[in-house]
Amino acid sequence: MNIKTLFRKKPIEAYKEDIKSSQLKRTLGKWELTAIGVGAVIGGGIFVLTGVAANQYAGPALALSFVLAGIGCLLAAFCYAEFAAILPVSGSAYAYSYGTIGEFFAWFIGWNLILEYMMGATTVAVSWSKYFVKLLHLLGINNLPSWLINDPITAKEEALKLGTTPSSFSVNLPAALIVWVVTYILVRGIKESAKTNNIIVSIKVAAVLFVIVAGIAYINPANWHPFIPKQTIDSSGVSHYGISGVITAAGLVFFAFIGFDAVSTQSQEAINPTKDIPFAIITSLVVCTILYILVSLTITGMAKYTGLDLGAPVASAFSSAGLSWASLLITIAAVIGLISVMLVMLLSQTRIFLNMAKDSLLPKNIFATIHPRFKTPWKSTILLGLISSMVAALTPIEKATKMTSIGTLFAFAMICIAVLILRKKEPDLYRPFKVKNLTVVAVLGFSFNILLMFSLDKSTWLRLIVWSIAGIVIYFLHSAKRSNLNNLNNE
Ligand code: ALA
Repeated sequence: MNIKTLFRKKPIEAYKEDIKSSQLKRTLGKWELTAIGVGAVIGGGIFVLTGVAANQYAGPALALSFVLAGIGCLLAAFCYAEFAAILPVSGSAYAYSYGTIGEFFAWFIGWNLILEYMMGATTVAVSWSKYFVKLLHLLGINNLPSWLINDPITAKEEALKLGTTPSSFSVNLPAALIVWVVTYILVRGIKESAKTNNIIVSIKVAAVLFVIVAGIAYINPANWHPFIPKQTIDSSGVSHYGISGVITAAGLVFFAFIGFDAVSTQSQEAINPTKDIPFAIITSLVVCTILYILVSLTITGMAKYTGLDLGAPVASAFSSAGLSWASLLITIAAVIGLISVMLVMLLSQTRIFLNMAKDSLLPKNIFATIHPRFKTPWKSTILLGLISSMVAALTPIEKATKMTSIGTLFAFAMICIAVLILRKKEPDLYRPFKVKNLTVVAVLGFSFNILLMFSLDKSTWLRLIVWSIAGIVIYFLHSAKRSNLNNLNNE
């Protein structure tokens, strides 16, 4: 293979053709797009991970961890927005890189976006199942067997904790089932999905605002002291608290921000993509960052960080303040709200696959077939539902979370660099949205995201390396040989 193959670009005319021939309907305005962003962002990160992050690593300084992770995301979001406005197509960073940097880089970004979207949806399905089980518990239903609500590893750990014999078979059934519910909604179509999404997002944002407004009266400022607890090292050598704890927590709560870029995968369904996509990306991220900082200050003010629950910290902060009715409300909102994260994540994944298939880097007959009536990529949606539900049924939440985060951080870092390269190589390209001081923004964005990658453990890195090698092998054995660009003779 000629080395130039790796850098061949998809011609801009081909994008125009894609946009023209798109069978997807243009129904989304700027607030619907923003709702898609918020819908994808607020989820398991704020409702679940805040517990471990505050309790084990940051203490009350959790709010600072959110600021750090938020800065990394905001820098990447500006780069995304510039990219998205140049090429308003639905393939997100994959498509932008293909038109500007080259085929191999684009494939590699697309491959990592699978970790963000598919693995992200899977992780949220597992979080959802935890809240669902908690809701059943609050309603007095306590007798579900552990082997039906846990993946095999978690079920085994639970059995060891309780001193019982682990069951030989275990599956997280609620997590698998919720993926199928979301898959069904997605196969039925974007308009229905957007409507469902708007309702769910409203419930979720109302719940988050409720936490802030109702919780404020119960804040005891003494719980914020010391704001950054003194660093300690536990018996296994793991460091907690101090500045390094704040950074570790930032790596963990980074997951809470994932999803704002999902807006960019909706370009071909947007009424006015060049203006509204950058608006929605940045607005949804800024709104969520503010809400996160306020929620983390509220819950660490309501309960001492050492007493925050690891499973459902937001709801438990209210129980510990004696407001069990509020705890129930928050649990119900979380059960409903987490669905929209899965909805947007899986929706985005199918749109990226659709683009990759149209370019013949993935099989067209599966990933680019549009349903004649629903106008959705139904085969790819069902395949995705199948894989996500199986992984959700069998994977512990921590592994899934870290895998999602490392893949996304990697993709964000690459995007920061890609947009900078493009600005240098093609300074005169028309840019409806242009980032000021791009060099500073892109270099800082790259550095922040790489720094957060280093806060994740070795086994997560190892999995990323294996995943990347698999992607590279598939590219050379399959995708490069079938690419549409082989017919354009532009090598
Ligand atoms: N940001 C999304 C969540 O927290 C992935 O669930």
